[in-house]
Amino acid sequence: MRSNPLAFLDTELDSLRTQGLHRSLRILDDRQQATTRFDHKSVVNLSSNNYLGLTTHPLLIERAIAAVKEYGVGSGSVRTIAGTMAIHMELEKRLAAFKHTEAVVVFQSGFAANAGTVSAILTKEDAIISDALNHASIIDGARLSKATIKVFPHKDVDACRTILEELPAAQRKLLITDGVFSMDGDLGALPALCDLAEEFGCIMMVDDAHASGVFGKNGRGTVDHFNMHGRVDIQVGTLSKAMGALGGYVAGSAALIDFLYHRARPFLFSTSHPPSVAATCIAAVDVLEKEPEIIERLWDNTRFFKKGLEALGFDTGLSESPITPVIAGEGSRAMKLSDRLFEEGVFAQGIAFPTVARDKARVRTIVTATHTKDELQFALDKFKLVGVELGLI
Ligand SMILES: Cc1ncc(COP(=O)(O)O)c(C=O)c1O
Repeated sequence: MRSNPLAFLDTELDSLRTQGLHRSLRILDDRQQATTRFDHKSVVNLSSNNYLGLTTHPLLIERAIAAVKEYGVGSGSVRTIAGTMAIHMELEKRLAAFKHTEAVVVFQSGFAANAGTVSAILTKEDAIISDALNHASIIDGARLSKATIKVFPHKDVDACRTILEELPAAQRKLLITDGVFSMDGDLGALPALCDLAEEFGCIMMVDDAHASGVFGKNGRGTVDHFNMHGRVDIQVGTLSKAMGALGGYVAGSAALIDFLYHRARPFLFSTSHPPSVAATCIAAVDVLEKEPEIIERLWDNTRFFKKGLEALGFDTGLSESPITPVIAGEGSRAMKLSDRLFEEGVFAQGIAFPTVARDKARVRTIVTATHTKDELQFALDKFKLVGVELGLI
């Protein structure tokens, strides 16, 4: 009889169970919204990236349905063969105008945008200098490129300078940071890194996944927030979080986008978005431009909730965004916190190693523009109850 070559997976899974780190997926059986049902239980939802509530915005729904009726449900091909529809081009044009850049290319996801771009731009002769907490898609792109990978401690600009000083002056270098760090909610050291990029002749790139629709005028991102226009060569944004739908994009020069059309592997080798996704994303840009008060509501809720958690005495790290971690220490403690909150009617996902450091496991909270103050106060009351129970406050 053939022995099971995947038997080692059972050992790995058992080890996760022993450590209290094994998770089953929570199943959403309603819409992605502020109060909803996961696993058949009604909960205040503090776990989505649906910052502006656009997953259920009437205009986006209407445009998606209209696009399905007009163009069908699929694009039928990769972009470079038969899968570039007029609506894909319209979205790229709208995003370029929105971001004030010459051009934009849209990818199937933010992950594909980061990994596809970094791996297309760099070769094994080049170097990538990357913040230690940058997103996994940047790390994977760097590995695929075979470039030399240099990592500086999180936001340590002096350490970044030392790395740059030690690299050969003639070597091509890509300096990269997240705009907003997804697990801690703090902002990248963009202005200081732009200075370094100029001093050392680096390509400057920012991953604005969690800043898209959240930071800057009308949600244009951290380049706008820090007024770094013209100083960042490659801006990645996502259409999957605040924009409510799915996708990622790269904004930059016309030459950069033309090059990615020819060399970025997810663009070349994976089918493009259904036309309804493109139509939905165009509607999301319309909303950002015409209803900026939604972004103000997000920030108002952010301030209310952060203040509440801090007043209760939780360790909320250094967040500057609507992502607020509640740090619990060991992985099993964070998972217990998350599980007890869920029992009490609040969904805040537990996050442990390897996503964050072993002793910095946490639940991550994200408020949205559509939470009411009553929902947020309910969540704060439950955090108090469970925080006391677990000795966190
Ligand atoms: C910092 C960061 N970059 C990129 C991505 C990937 O974006 P998407 O979900 O659109 O693939 C994420 C999403 O988890 C992220 O947090």
